[in-house]
Formats: sequence, structure tokens, C-alpha cells
Amino acid sequence: MESLSKLPVHVTFIMDGNGRWARQRGKERVEGHFEGVESVRAVMQTSHELGIRYISFFAFSEENWNRSEAEVTALMGLMLRAMEKELPTFIGNGVRFRVIGNRARLSEELNATIDRIEASTAGGSHMTIIIFLSYSGKWDIQQAAERMAETGGRKIEDFLATAGIPDPDLMIRTSGEQRISNYMLWQLAYTEFVFTDTLWPDFRKQEYLAALEEYASRDRRFGKVK
Ligand code: IPE
Ligand code: IPE
Ligand code: MG
Repeated sequence: MESLSKLPVHVTFIMDGNGRWARQRGKERVEGHFEGVESVRAVMQTSHELGIRYISFFAFSEENWNRSEAEVTALMGLMLRAMEKELPTFIGNGVRFRVIGNRARLSEELNATIDRIEASTAGGSHMTIIIFLSYSGKWDIQQAAERMAETGGRKIEDFLATAGIPDPDLMIRTSGEQRISNYMLWQLAYTEFVFTDTLWPDFRKQEYLAALEEYASRDRRFGKVK
């Protein structure tokens, strides 16, 4: 796999297209979300095999609160069960698990579970997996600015919810949409983007490797002349 010699440190995913995947099969939207969890597992496994240090997933945006109560409830329940289920795998594989977002909007039960899983994986040193939940880029910059003003801090990076996490090198968005949808607005400043028409539940190892090869072929200049 010589073409993968240039591995990203941090890959982030905008997982999109679960609803369309379900509709194409005459199923309920939630079925697409269930199948999407399997794609998350596939990506985690492949990233672990390759030695990628940080992977993150946009699982639920602040705007997604405007979906039907049934879908929101189903998604939150799914998230809770998936985290619980993966905990032993995280611990066994040296994974540090983080959730980033506006936690005030999450249920007490979900917050308690997140606290427990974050605490029990805090020592994981092999890779970091981050779920962006109830997150939006504008919320992040707003809360960072407020806390910076309160404390007299000077560097916005230190106050963003992602403080301490390297900015993504590669962002992959599925389902053919070519937009950021209020994701990490600050942190994506120099990220390479890969857009694919594949719907998230169909995004598995081969697709992922193809995106990593695409990344390896990019020439990142960061404004300089090479
Ligand atoms: C992504 O799939 C999952 C979330 C945004 C929670 P969607 O639910 O947005 O699926 P589409 O875009 O309707 O197909
Ligand atoms: C972006 O997907 C948010 C997540 C993947 C969590 P959406 O489906 O909400 O984005 P839009 O509405 O098509 O921009
Ligand atoms: Mg969508």
C-alpha cells in the first residue's frame, strides 16, 4: 500500500445519506441509521489497522434537533446503545473516546453515559475517536469567544471544544452533498475534502481506502509556494 504512505493524522466524516439509503429500500429512516452504525464500525476498524491516530464523526448537528421527535429519540437511543456496546472494544484497543458538542441539550442519561465512557477510556493512547453530538461550528466559535472574554484568554484554539485535538487533515462527506453544514468551521481551514456519492450506510472499507488514496495524491501547500 505504498500510495497510503501519506496517512492523515485526523480523518473526519460527515456521515450523510442514511435516510435516502432507507427510502431507496422502502424502509423507515431509522433503519438507515442502524445500518450507518455498521459503517462507523468498519471505519473504526480500518483506521485502527492503518494506525490513524484521530477519527471523528459528525453524528448529530444542532440543526438536527429540528427533525421529528421520533427520529431524534431514535437517534439518541441508538447513540446510547452503540457507545455502551463499543466500550469493551475501546478499552481493549487503547481507544480514547470523546464526545464534543452542546452537552446541555442532551438528556441526563446520555450525559451520564458519555461521562462514564470518557472517564474509563481517558488513558487510551493508541487512537482517539470523537463523536460530534449536538454540535455546530458556529456554536463552538461562540462558546469559545464567550469563555475567552470571561477569562481574558488570547488564543481561540484553546477555547474551542476541540482544544488539544489536531485539526482534521481529511474530511470525507458521503451522499453527494458538497457543503459543510455548520461543521467545524474554524478547524477545517486547511483540511482536504473528499466528497463521494456513496450513501453513508454503503461506505465501507474499500470506499475508505479509495478516499485515503485520493488524500495521499493531494498536494497540500498551506499558502506557501513549493
Ligand atoms: C445522516 O443521514 C445522519 C444524520 C444527519 C443524523 P441523514 O439522516 O441526513 O440522511 P439523508 O440526508 O436524509 O439521506
Ligand atoms: C449533516 O447532515 C449533519 C450530520 C451528518 C450529523 P444533514 O443531513 O443534517 O445536512 P444538510 O441538512 O443536508 O445540510
Ligand atoms: Mg442528510
